[in-house]
Amino acid sequence: MFDQHSPVGILDSGIGGFSVVRQVQRLLPGEDLLYFGDGAHIPYGNHGEETILAMAGYMFRFMEERGVKALLVACNTISCVLDRRADEISCPVFSAVQAGAEAAARLEAGKVGVISTVFTHNSRIYPRKIQTLSPRKVVVLSCGCPDLARLVEHSLGDPAGMALVEENLRQELDPMVRVDRVDCCVLGCTHYPLVADSIHRLYPGLPLIDPAEEMARSLKRYLDREGLNNPQAGPGALTVYTTGDVAEYALRARQVGLERVAGVEFYPPMEIA
Ligand code: DGL
Repeated sequence: MFDQHSPVGILDSGIGGFSVVRQVQRLLPGEDLLYFGDGAHIPYGNHGEETILAMAGYMFRFMEERGVKALLVACNTISCVLDRRADEISCPVFSAVQAGAEAAARLEAGKVGVISTVFTHNSRIYPRKIQTLSPRKVVVLSCGCPDLARLVEHSLGDPAGMALVEENLRQELDPMVRVDRVDCCVLGCTHYPLVADSIHRLYPGLPLIDPAEEMARSLKRYLDREGLNNPQAGPGALTVYTTGDVAEYALRARQVGLERVAGVEFYPPMEIA
């Protein structure tokens, strides 16, 4: 069971969900946040559906055991298969894809680009959702990037690594931006907003849609509506759990500008065959 004092859970395959934490800390500074990054198994986007479901289920149980009052699935790839797991969670669940699609549809652009993991791309979930939600006819071009999330995960703050990220971004985005001339681009993997500065530099003037902003707004609406805002006087704290490298996660949290990090702790990874 959960109440006003319960934390908000945020999960991802890696540090990508830090882009969502960042927005939630800005909008809801009084909330305690519990983060789970499955660093041992990133990238999820190159796995099959059953493996992703099993790994997601492991993280859902972690959050369920800690009684979170809302769960932000800050991973587009897991969001693609959320319908098959939603009954395992007793609090409201917020999907990165739903947030990104709603934000894109609201722009009323004629041609929307989406970059994502290969799994998200193959699922076609973004084109379907944006076209359903959009009030006018919209063309949606989707591009699956096999290496980008992993590169971002390990490259922040490292000039050589960031050069590889930018080379990869150019390779993936050039056709969509320079040839097909999309009006905007949805960052359909939570790792990508962490390198939004690079994308802006490579493609000045291209509007970027970060689903994290919409997720934070949806969370706020829910907490306000249900009277579940944390009443504590001071600001909330962030506790990070990872199945990966604790020191690397602590460094990334600082680089991304996360605040009030109470601790970064190791959690044993699920064993996958
Ligand atoms: N950050 C995740 C997403 O939003 C996926 C990265 C990965 O593990 O492939 O899809």
